[in-house]
Amino acid sequence: MSSPGPDTAGTAAHRARALDALPGPGALPVLGNVLQLELPRLHQQLEDWAAQYGAIYRLQIGRQRFVCIADPDLIGAILRLRPEHWRRVRRLEQIAREIGANGVFSAEGASWSRQRRMVMAAFDPGHLKRFFPRQVLITERLLARWQRAADSGLALELQPELMRYSVDTVAGLALGVDVDTIEEQQDPLQRHLDTVLPVVFRRLNAPLPYWRWIRLPADRDFDRHLAQMHRIMREMIDSARKRMRAAPSLAEHPTNLLEAMLAVRDTDGDALSEEELVGNVFTILLAGEDTTANTLAWTLWLLHEDRDCWLRLVDEADHVLGDQDMPRSFDALREFAWLAACVDESMRLRPVAPLIYLETQRDTALGGLAIPRGTGAILLMRFAAIDAGRLPDAGSFDPQRWLDRGSSQRASLNHVTRPFGGGPRLCPGRYLALLETKMLLSMLARNFELVDVATASGGAPPERMAFTMHPEGLRMRLARRLH
Ligand code: HEM
Repeated sequence: MSSPGPDTAGTAAHRARALDALPGPGALPVLGNVLQLELPRLHQQLEDWAAQYGAIYRLQIGRQRFVCIADPDLIGAILRLRPEHWRRVRRLEQIAREIGANGVFSAEGASWSRQRRMVMAAFDPGHLKRFFPRQVLITERLLARWQRAADSGLALELQPELMRYSVDTVAGLALGVDVDTIEEQQDPLQRHLDTVLPVVFRRLNAPLPYWRWIRLPADRDFDRHLAQMHRIMREMIDSARKRMRAAPSLAEHPTNLLEAMLAVRDTDGDALSEEELVGNVFTILLAGEDTTANTLAWTLWLLHEDRDCWLRLVDEADHVLGDQDMPRSFDALREFAWLAACVDESMRLRPVAPLIYLETQRDTALGGLAIPRGTGAILLMRFAAIDAGRLPDAGSFDPQRWLDRGSSQRASLNHVTRPFGGGPRLCPGRYLALLETKMLLSMLARNFELVDVATASGGAPPERMAFTMHPEGLRMRLARRLH
């Protein structure tokens, strides 16, 4: 698949091909391709179209025109050209604002830069290291819960199990709140949170913003969950304010993102607006929950399917941990090279963010194509990573390929695999996500046999898109390992 190089100069737009000249599926007036879209498997459908029409083709959702891009050079160029040339699709910011979740993920311009700086500070490796004892505590709770399940022979619904872990982690780290959904049977926070991203995804791909005029039963149900989410977030913010009043030094030395956001003043002395504050609490909970949990779910399934890879992980955990049941020092995490390769390989084959929606901020030209201001772009993040023409045995789960460092293979892998996006908006939560995956998988390998990770039918789990991509219907059964 050959690709024209990125051409970013807006002045070149007049020399380039017009968008209409691109191939793509036939579109209806007004609705465009909306009736053809199969939302639960949208990423696969767009990948199928890339195989049919080429690595750059057109699509129309309602009145907005999109270019779908599967070429890794062009994807890299677009990601780097933010925030000036490209932004997240405008519809996303509107939807986020409507539900009170407009934070660093959906914000643009000066507001984004300011929020981004704070978020980066809260998620840097130094901060994670200080948080590590809390992460051990959260992992101990999960270990105890899974030991009970193993003793009773209970099959666990994998997705909610992993989400409890990721919600507890992100709420503890970023917001300083011990929500303890692992022990809590009702887990209200997680139950409300789970309803949000599927609705955002549906609205993002709707031909018209119908929910602004009529509320369907599903929208009314969602409103109820949303009201509960806001009540919980309000309580979190209020208690952080109280803590900070009681200990004014926290304003100078905030211990988490929420405190930092409450303490911050810009150069004019203005605090973050209430909308920015709530929007970021919401954003961080959303961004940290599904992504990490889905990555873990896919990795567990792939490891269960490949017994040799799993046994090598068990060996590594035994070797690194010795007598311990989980990593008890931050530095021990660095020694899990095989584990890290398994996660990298899982994110190559099953990236949980296979589509990134953007929009041009100005008339621009890319790959010899004139792209008018306001045109959308959907980046197909997996297409090249599983292309047999680019990687040997591209469809197989082979973590070893990540360990051949220094080889040209490693460079091509990084070029085609970008599970955390790229450029100035690269995922700030990636270190936390990797910390969580290492803690959970090493604890699992050290303490349990994977009896089963499977769907009811025993077949491969379907890939389901609901903003992030997850395996549908996986259940896990564990047995205690006899040491
Ligand atoms: C395996 C887990 C994760 C994956 C695969 C993932 C993936 C991504 C991707 C693809 C993006 C878009 C990047 C871009 O536009 O270039 C993103 C953005 C973001 N992620 Fe993650 N993420 C993960 C975990 C987390 C966690 C744990 C957090 C924090 C709690 C987090 C917070 C964010 C935020 C705040 C953004 C928006 C950044 C911005 O727009 O400036 N992510 N993530």
